[in-house]
Amino acid sequence: MTIKTVQTTPFSDQKPGTSGLRKKVTVFQQKNYAENFLQSIFDSLEGFAGETLVIGGDGRFYNREVIQLAIRMAAANGFGRVLVGRGGILSTPAASHLIRKNKAFGGIVLSASHNPGGPDGDFGIKYNIGNGGPAPEKITEAIFARSRTIDSYRIADAPDVNLDAEGSREVAGMTVTVIDPVADYAELMEELFDFDAIRALLSGGFRIVFDAMSAVTGPYAKEILENRLGAAKGSVLNFMPLPDFGGHHPDPNLVHAHALYETMMGDDAPDFGAASDGDGDRNLIIGKGIFVTPSDSLAMLAANAHLAPGYSKGLAGIARSMPTSGAADRVAEKMGIAIYETPTGWKFFGNLLDAGLATICGEESAGTGSSHVREKDGLWAVLLWLNILAMRRESVKDIARQHWATYGRNYYSRHDYEEVDTTAANDLVAALRGQLSTLAGTVFGALRIRAADDFAYHDPVDRSVSEHQGIRLLFEDGSRVVFRLSGTGTTGATLRVYIERFEPDPARHDLDTQEALADLIAVADDVAGIRRRTGRDAPSVIT
Ligand code: G1P
Ligand code: ZN
Repeated sequence: MTIKTVQTTPFSDQKPGTSGLRKKVTVFQQKNYAENFLQSIFDSLEGFAGETLVIGGDGRFYNREVIQLAIRMAAANGFGRVLVGRGGILSTPAASHLIRKNKAFGGIVLSASHNPGGPDGDFGIKYNIGNGGPAPEKITEAIFARSRTIDSYRIADAPDVNLDAEGSREVAGMTVTVIDPVADYAELMEELFDFDAIRALLSGGFRIVFDAMSAVTGPYAKEILENRLGAAKGSVLNFMPLPDFGGHHPDPNLVHAHALYETMMGDDAPDFGAASDGDGDRNLIIGKGIFVTPSDSLAMLAANAHLAPGYSKGLAGIARSMPTSGAADRVAEKMGIAIYETPTGWKFFGNLLDAGLATICGEESAGTGSSHVREKDGLWAVLLWLNILAMRRESVKDIARQHWATYGRNYYSRHDYEEVDTTAANDLVAALRGQLSTLAGTVFGALRIRAADDFAYHDPVDRSVSEHQGIRLLFEDGSRVVFRLSGTGTTGATLRVYIERFEPDPARHDLDTQEALADLIAVADDVAGIRRRTGRDAPSVIT
């Protein structure tokens, strides 16, 4: 078997975003595009000779091709062993767990998360480090820098590995082991949660429905929820991972998981509904007759986590991304534990988790997770909810109401303006930045801006600083509006506007969210000129 060195020329656009490099499949299909990026990853790492690399993806179109490439290139670059999920499948949290469990050097996760798949859809490559989490900015910046000067890549001249047969074989002196993608992950979940209690709940007439959205969590949810926990057969919907997710957008929100929402609001709704995204790291939680916002879910899970065996000793701290609502802060305050506010993106939680400063983390974008892995974890959130429900024996609605009565309610919504003209979006943000020094003290009806800034994060562990992480308007009554541009889109720009208001009065906990936030929404448009600058009358997605 020979190792070839192939000459190449750099691409200028291989800058990893919030979560790895994401582009249209057609971009990845350009000659040497994926090869260049993979080699740029390897060139930015040191000391992996003979070490283990975990490789897997969410099963989307082009997954198998890039897995074969990554295997051949890992061999040529000197890795000693590759672990790959059967069929090329690994959910993002399962990949994180495998890296940790096997003390791997790192992992290559192939996914574009909740973005659509198929020949015209999106694809992505992300590098995870040895703690199981997404590479920190220092590494992603090095990868980008390397991608701009790369002139060759190394690849083994070897046939494709049969990804559908478990077991080990050799590729150019490197061992490739195809493993069951579900088993290790399911075992970890059994360690964290009281499966007996959940089984008792489910056998007592408590009905659940889980929509795998034709994406990667299907096999995991079938095995764990139906086979191991005894949920009724058919509780897991759309459980076959499809390369194009059945033509759907595998994003578990109220727009793309609308059918689930309708089911859960119906007269004969099951007790608990949930969904996960393309690569299995996001979660949507809907109780009978109540949608739980991801920010609230984080707070409610943190407040009740001690009911699950894995968290019975309590939490070291809670971390949330800056745009996520402050609901979790109130729980942390009551518990007397620390709360950390990080920039958007899971990579910022890694240091806090490694240092034992935080146990549970969450983002408003339907991401929740804990120290068990270094990624957010959709099924984990579902199982923690089920464990809590099994112990409390109350409905999701009752648990939410009691939570709000105890801590107050943070009304919260995110407005996304997708595929906006990039120049218009950049101008909008630049204009906001230009106003920052003069906004404090401005009055809009009953609202008065206390402070306005561009969020910067000072990592308490490695002291790194990440600037320009979102423009914040902070009002005197504690309300907030945050503006930032997405770092995961592949077409034009996506403007995200996050709106939040705290309501302590239980008599006012039943308002419609958009109505409760209406005056803040108007101020957001007033200050940023959203309609004028983007030409849009309304957001494309409201969550
Ligand atoms: C989005 C979410 C962010 C999440 C990321 C990856 O990033 O907002 O919370 O970590 O996807 O799932 P964005 O597109 O906003 O940069
Ligand atoms: Zn995802």
